[in-house]
Amino acid sequence: MKKITAAITGIHAYVPDYILTNKELEKTVDTNDEWITSRTGIKERRILKGQGKGASVLGINAVNGLLNKTNINAVDIDLIICATATPDMLFPSTACIIADKVGASNAFAYDLMAACSGFLFALSTASKFIETGTYKKIIVVGADKMSSIVDYTDRATCIIFGDGAGAVMLEPSTEGNGIQDSILKSDGSGSEFLHMKAGGSALPASHETIEARKHFVFQEGQSVFKAAVTSMADVSEEIMKRNNLTSNDVAWLVPHQANQRIIDATARRMGVGNEKVMLNIERYGNTTNGTIPLCLWEWENKLKKGDNLILAAFGGGFTWGSIYLKWAYDSNK
Ligand code: UT7
Repeated sequence: MKKITAAITGIHAYVPDYILTNKELEKTVDTNDEWITSRTGIKERRILKGQGKGASVLGINAVNGLLNKTNINAVDIDLIICATATPDMLFPSTACIIADKVGASNAFAYDLMAACSGFLFALSTASKFIETGTYKKIIVVGADKMSSIVDYTDRATCIIFGDGAGAVMLEPSTEGNGIQDSILKSDGSGSEFLHMKAGGSALPASHETIEARKHFVFQEGQSVFKAAVTSMADVSEEIMKRNNLTSNDVAWLVPHQANQRIIDATARRMGVGNEKVMLNIERYGNTTNGTIPLCLWEWENKLKKGDNLILAAFGGGFTWGSIYLKWAYDSNK
């Protein structure tokens, strides 16, 4: 019997309409376009406006588009995993809300939380259900409304993040395409450098936590930057070596979009030229779990069956990882 691999058979993404430019941020915090662009590569990001709209709104749009594109009926979906750091509510899971709204009535659904590495962790988890023959159609969604946890008076964080979501369809392949390998890592000793101080069980919401602005992303930028540069490059190099891939074998690097300088360092270590790096940080900023599927979506028409892709991410936790996959279809046919 031929080995079953988990192949991405469709991709779709969604970003909200509102564009928050560097120029607009200049009006609210002490920053400027030149600083933001040279330190991060970001020019603008998208923001989901409207009362009561959570990350599920982004995810629902991405998943509905995916179902339309792939011509797959929602009732045939076995499982939906939503990677998110900004769930609509602590419970029910955002995946449950998405499943309900898209009509995936036969799917079970749950969220997976690994900060910016969540999409990779979810993709790897989902691939095991496919490889073992347990399920045939799984949707992995990465959705984040970062604007809901960003302090727009803190210039160290508000310039980085944006809102967005992407979703992939995973199905079995017997042609050897799809996910080949993954390396996933975490180190909780890094939590002090990137976290949200209140709102969890350790420090539930109170007047004090709100007054002290503890419900926003806290980041010690330089410490995170240093760890990200080393870890994302290390893990990408490691997955190449382990699979005997040279830089010539790699068609695309699909990096988490946190800072262009981190992406450049990873590409350099892999020996991969800029022309092979998916980069859209300029227009979307860091959408946390949305970054990697947003890249795949925008580059879909350039991808060819059999292309070797290296996905890489680093984020809060610390968490980081890399996935090696073979693209499973010619997108522009
Ligand atoms: O996706 C999850 C993982 N997150 C990351 O990977 C993010 C990693 N970190 C970073 O990308 C960078 O550390 C930042 C973009 C957040 C910050 O860039 P940096 O080059 O590390 O700047 P810094 O924090 O060392 O700050 C340098 C200077 C400071 O001023 P002084 O002390 O040198 O006078 C900051 O106060 O830049 C100042 N600064 C700003 N100036 C203008 C910090 N933020 C801003 C700003 N505009 N928005």
